[in-house]
Amino acid sequence: MTAVKHIVLKKRPALQLTADDFELTTSTLRELKDGEFLIRNSFLSLDAGFRQWMNEGASDNYLQAMPLGQPVQSIVLGVVESSKNPAYPTGACVMGRTSWETHSIADGSDLMTIIEPEKDIPLEEYLAALGPSGMTAYFGLFDIGQPKPEDTILVSAAAGGVGSLVGQMAKTVGCTTIGISSSNEKCQWLQESLHYDHVINYRAPGGLDAGLSTIAPGGIDIYFDNVGGKMLDTAMTHLRMNARLVLCGAIAQYESAQREGVYNLWELITKRAKAEGFMFSDYVDRYGEATQKLAGWIREGKLSSPLNISEGIESTGAAFCDMLQGRNLGKSLVRL
Ligand SMILES: NC(=O)c1ccc[n+]([C@@H]2O[C@H](COP(=O)([O-])OP(=O)(O)OC[C@H]3O[C@@H](n4cnc5c(N)ncnc54)[C@H](OP(=O)(O)O)[C@@H]3O)[C@@H](O)[C@H]2O)c1
Repeated sequence: MTAVKHIVLKKRPALQLTADDFELTTSTLRELKDGEFLIRNSFLSLDAGFRQWMNEGASDNYLQAMPLGQPVQSIVLGVVESSKNPAYPTGACVMGRTSWETHSIADGSDLMTIIEPEKDIPLEEYLAALGPSGMTAYFGLFDIGQPKPEDTILVSAAAGGVGSLVGQMAKTVGCTTIGISSSNEKCQWLQESLHYDHVINYRAPGGLDAGLSTIAPGGIDIYFDNVGGKMLDTAMTHLRMNARLVLCGAIAQYESAQREGVYNLWELITKRAKAEGFMFSDYVDRYGEATQKLAGWIREGKLSSPLNISEGIESTGAAFCDMLQGRNLGKSLVRL
């Protein structure tokens, strides 16, 4: 009998999540029902957005608050080990939303897709640049941001999974890129490794406001917002005419008791700006298009995909906390 290891949500986090909020449990695999298949997970994707649904009462129109005592929801990538679903045969490589666990039983729902990995691309990329982070960056930037070569784009959480890709993609168009991060070391890495034209350490004296006044006195055309809150409010005071705000995430509020207000909406009116939210899962039908484009950029050396890989299911909780607290460069994954 195969023993399955899971990481469950043991208790509701008291604001800042800690590794103690999780617990490792084991179970024995049950028999598959008709329509189900068993996945041996190879990688878990650590996505900051899931932090939101760990809070009490966090259910919304997208997902339910995660139940206590149950494995933590996650996008995973793995191989079908046995199957009672002809659409997902044994040996198929799949990605979908299951949980932090070594094996998952799935039925083809919850974003489950078959992946056909190219030989020259490492498997883990299908959970990173060619996975949820890549899809988020690609559709957020190109469909909502609508970048043009003369545009200046500002990206928050620029050193993270999504942000590390957005700046590089904007460079393929010819945009001027400005990345925001929390330390001088991370900012230096953004410039040296990801070729951001300009960087702003939002914790430096004067913060984002002073940084933008110096770097982009004429304003920004696109703000790719991963953070929300005060940072979004500040960015709104630096918009050019017809600017686009890509509302991707709101990490500043996932661990805060009180949501920060946004006060500068008047700026959107006078700048004839657009703000639009999106979820990467809206674009499932177009993943093929994005995957082809992104894989091409990786092969041409135009897109590097920095990975921050933790080893073993036991490391998952701490790795997720590290990512939320900014101790990551690039996309955070767990290898099982
Ligand atoms: N709409 C969608 O479909 C979709 C899909 C995936 C992800 N997202 C969103 O994209 C964003 C990034 O997610 P990710 O998984 O790629 O995580 P990530 O960027 O790899 O990691 C999170 C980063 O956020 C920054 N951060 C944390 N707390 C912050 C705060 N209070 N203020 C400013 N920055 C803070 C930290 O970077 P620094 O050290 O640089 O501050 C940290 O490294 C999240 O908001 C997530 O919800 C949206």
